[in-house]
Amino acid sequence: MVMTEKLKLGIAGLGRGFTVMLPTLSLHPKLDVIAAVDTRPEARVQFETDFGGAAYDTIEAMCSDADIDAVYVTTPHQLHAEHTVIAAKMGKHILVEKPMAITLEDCTRMIDATNAAGVYLLVGHSHSYDIPILEAHRLIASGDYGSPRLITGLNFTDFVYRPRRAEELDPSQGGGVVFSQGAHQIDIARLLGGGMVKTVYATTGDYDRNRPTQGAYTAFLKFADGTVANLTYSGYARFDTDEFTNWRTESGAAKDPKNYGSARRALASVKDPTAEAILKASRAYGGSEGTVKPDEAPRDRHHEHFGLFLVSCTGADIRPLPNGVQIYADDRVDFHPLPAPRIPRAEVIDELYAAVIEGKTPLHDGQWARATLEVCSAIIKSANGGHEIPLNYQVSPKDIL
Ligand SMILES: NC(=O)c1ccc[n+]([C@@H]2O[C@H](COP(=O)([O-])OP(=O)(O)OC[C@H]3O[C@@H](n4cnc5c(N)ncnc54)[C@H](O)[C@@H]3O)[C@@H](O)[C@H]2O)c1
Repeated sequence: MVMTEKLKLGIAGLGRGFTVMLPTLSLHPKLDVIAAVDTRPEARVQFETDFGGAAYDTIEAMCSDADIDAVYVTTPHQLHAEHTVIAAKMGKHILVEKPMAITLEDCTRMIDATNAAGVYLLVGHSHSYDIPILEAHRLIASGDYGSPRLITGLNFTDFVYRPRRAEELDPSQGGGVVFSQGAHQIDIARLLGGGMVKTVYATTGDYDRNRPTQGAYTAFLKFADGTVANLTYSGYARFDTDEFTNWRTESGAAKDPKNYGSARRALASVKDPTAEAILKASRAYGGSEGTVKPDEAPRDRHHEHFGLFLVSCTGADIRPLPNGVQIYADDRVDFHPLPAPRIPRAEVIDELYAAVIEGKTPLHDGQWARATLEVCSAIIKSANGGHEIPLNYQVSPKDIL
């Protein structure tokens, strides 16, 4: 029997992002999660119980474990650069959560540090890893439907009313929807549109004075080849774009629309930001209501999605869906079904594994993610100044098809 070499992973940050990846990290057959770091003792205890690995309280201590091949950095946005640089200098490959960082300078620092150390840097999870998005990208790249011209992206969620740490709502610290959620929507639009955004014109919205933050944006992206993208996001928990996917959540699970308004209702009893941060931590890994490692894949899952995407090409409209890709041609509608995922988000670990163990160039590398972050920053600059913003760090997607 041929034994597959496993990738040995250390986790930096055992919070919500880690919890969302828990099924992937527990069940992916090419992965061994052997260590973790978190400043919360209860998360470290839970990790040692669930994974049997070592849990540390500093990233330096964790990275001194020579067995770790790669570190998944899922600490808060503002720590991504510092933790990536430390882990890279200690010889670890990096998978860092979106957004890559909150400034372009930090993104460049991360790219330079990983280049200097000779390690891979991947940024994800982002919904541009989703199989239906990659399939839409493949169909567009085939040329069978002509060239992409107009990309429409719409996502309406309850982001603003989910329990948060204070800085997650503070735009000066990367809070609000532009960095957290734009990192997904822009990554998808750039992938489907060829990557090379030339200019950005945008507004942001702050519509609830009891919960001040950037809770919405609408952005107009012009690509170098003349393709345009209209991207709108609203996190104000009213209209819900999951209606467009026959009520599938972002993670591909079935959603009951009868729970309308539940995020606002749950938050209504929370008195202040400290109580809110405690509520968030109680739901986090190791918290009083926290999650434990699953031993089987979730059932009845479709692929993940990030709201409506429609790519109007010269020959057809192409629409990724949680269970396939729909093509609206001149005289008929074709549906390309995609089998349900066996392990959610396996494609993130597949890309990391292919890079670290097999030496394959990743699509979602540092330059790619810096270009997405540049669009996020340009949305904020354009909204503040009222101008169209030219871009400098854009790159085309690497050919992984
Ligand atoms: N891709 C996704 O679907 C997704 C989902 C949620 C979060 N995220 C990303 O994950 C990152 C973390 O967000 P979150 O919602 O999990 O936050 P969180 O507060 O739930 O988790 C952060 C964790 O990091 C720990 N931590 C803080 N400082 C640390 C330090 N110096 N060293 C070690 N551990 C430390 C905290 O104790 C906490 O457990 C963000 O960048 C966010 O964008 C991604």
